[in-house]
This record gives sequence, structure tokens and C-alpha cells, in this order.
Amino acid sequence: MATVFAIETSCDETAAAVVRDRHCLSSVVASQIQLHSPYGGVVPEIAARSHVETINQVIARAYLESGTTWAEIDGIAVTAAPGLIGALMVGVTAAKTLALLHRKPLIGVHHLEGHIFSAFLADPALEPPLLCLLVSGGHSSLILMQDYGKYEIVGQTRDDAAGEAFDKVSRLLGLGYPGGPAIDRLAVTGNPKAFALPQGKIADRPFDSSFSGLKTAVLRLTEKLEREGQQPLPTADIAASFQETVAIALASRTINCALAHNLNTIVAVGGVAANSALRSHLQRAAIAQNLRIVFPPLHLCTDNAAMIGCAGAMHLARGDVSSLNLAAQSRLNISDSYRLYI
Ligand code: KG4
Ligand code: ZN
Repeated sequence: MATVFAIETSCDETAAAVVRDRHCLSSVVASQIQLHSPYGGVVPEIAARSHVETINQVIARAYLESGTTWAEIDGIAVTAAPGLIGALMVGVTAAKTLALLHRKPLIGVHHLEGHIFSAFLADPALEPPLLCLLVSGGHSSLILMQDYGKYEIVGQTRDDAAGEAFDKVSRLLGLGYPGGPAIDRLAVTGNPKAFALPQGKIADRPFDSSFSGLKTAVLRLTEKLEREGQQPLPTADIAASFQETVAIALASRTINCALAHNLNTIVAVGGVAANSALRSHLQRAAIAQNLRIVFPPLHLCTDNAAMIGCAGAMHLARGDVSSLNLAAQSRLNISDSYRLYI
């Protein structure tokens, strides 16, 4: 059993948690959404400064709420890559300080591996091999997890990430930031079959996605409806049709990918995995093919430190530790995440 104190600051959430193997003992997330929403997206300098201001309180709360003592904590895990460099550096510096102060090993964690481990927190019996659909603000990938620490990207987006598409379409419809939850809420009141939109298939690359064509199609649709004098715009129908298109495209690609790789377990993680239409399409399609699907609870879909702690506990148990010279990296492929360890 490994008990890990974890920190996550790769983007716009300052988070800390204590995790014992696959059980979360505490998880604190301070969201910066209000700071960034006037700009319609994350401003890296504001994110880094806000992490500096907030991290000590978040660490103190996660420690107190866990009911553990430093003596019981076996290691300090931290998101080391990928992400906004200034934001990552705040978490990595805090984690090194804790590791030195309390004489604990440091475990750098790849952010995407962390997202995958949100599913391990949700289902402690989960084991690889499995296929992961990872859909967030910065990523839309299909990742083959062959074993612990062993990953291969088998599908990617050619342009916008799924969450980015939600955020851009939300801005277009005047629904604000972050776009995913806003579109999800409004879509409930709309007709998902009102407008036919392109699914962004890529010839010869059945597991890749492209969302920029879909975003442009929504823009052209709104322009056309405005020209035709539709006032106000049927935003609920547009939101529902857009969401339905993304959900069907991602669900069918995921199921086909699992079948093509002979995998019978799927996990869907990342902020967009909180989407209600995506969850219901994936669930239905998985049941129809006799595949097992695991979704983390909604609060573990968006960025948090519990998922980083769960991945960190796995690495620590396998003897993976990082050097105190560990550097934050803005880019690192998940299949190269073994480089984070000595
Ligand atoms: O995983 P995450 O918190 O951060 C990254 O690592 O990027 O994902 C944030 C993204 C945002 O683009 C947000 O709009 C999207 O997840 N999101 C959603 C929903 N909740 C959050 N997208 C669709 N439906 C949702 N319910
Ligand atoms: Zn994330």
C-alpha cells in the first residue's frame, strides 16, 4: 500500500490531494475559472500567478482533511508534464519543497496518465489492458494502455481538441467560458436532430478526429439563420445538434477502436467525459458490443490532484521515483512518460 500526497497545477486548477492506492482520502480543487472567463480562455501568466497565491492554502487543506500525518505519507506526486510551463513550475517547486522537508521520494506524473487514473479511482478493480478515450480542453486522444506505465496513442485530433471545440462553439453562441458545461446545460432543452452537422471523419485514419470543420459548420449555420432573419437564434437546438454530433463521432470511433484492438474494457476520462450526451452514447454503444465501460464521477473528470495521486501511488509501488532535479515540461508524449523516473 502506498499513501501519496499529490499536487496538480498544469492549467487553471490549483489542486492537492491525499490518495491511498486507489482510494481518495482528501481532494481540494481551487478553480481559476472566474479569473479567466473575461478573456474567454486561460491566460498563462494569470494562471501561474494565481497558483502561487493559492497553493499553500490548498496544500494545507488537503493535508488536514485527509486525517493522515506526514509520517504515514510515502511519497509526493506532482504533475510534471505536459501543460502551461509557468503553471507546472509552481506545482513542481511546491512538491520538491515538501519532498525535501519531509524526506519523501518525489514522483513526477504525466498529466494524461493522471486523467487515465481517474478511472482507477472510480473502479478499484480496473486492470489494463484497456482503451482510454481522453477528451479534455487540450487533448482528444485514444490511448492504448497495454500495462501500467505503458501507453500508445492510437488516435488523435488533427486540429482542435474536443473541449476546445465546445469552448469555441460556446463563445460563438454567446454562452460563455468554459463552454462544455454551458452547452451541456442548454442542450437539454434543444432538439439534437434539428441540424445535420459534419462528424469530421478523416480518410484512412478511422480513429483520428477533426473538429475545426464542425466548428466552421456551426459558424456558417448561425450566419445563415441570421441572414434568414431568425431572431433570436435557436441556440438550444444548435447546441444540442453540435453536442450530439461530437458525442456520436467520439463514441463510434472509440467503440470501433476497441474492437479493432481486441480490447473489452474502455475508460472515458477528461473534462469532456463529463458530457451527458457523450456518456449516454458511449454507454449504449458499449453495452450493444458487450464491452465494459468506466466513467469517473463528474468531479474527477476535470483537473484534480486525486487522479495524479492515484497514478503516483502506482508508480511508487513499482519503484518509479523522480530525481529532485525533475524539470517541468510543457510537452511530453505519454508514451515517453517513463523518462520522468530515474
Ligand atoms: O480535463 P480538463 O479540466 O482540463 C484539461 O486538461 O484540458 O478539461 C476542460 C475542458 C473544457 O474545454 C470544458 O469546456 C470541457 O472540459 N468540459 C465539458 C464539460 N465539462 C467540462 N465539455 C463538454 N461537456 C461537459 N459537461
Ligand atoms: Zn486535464
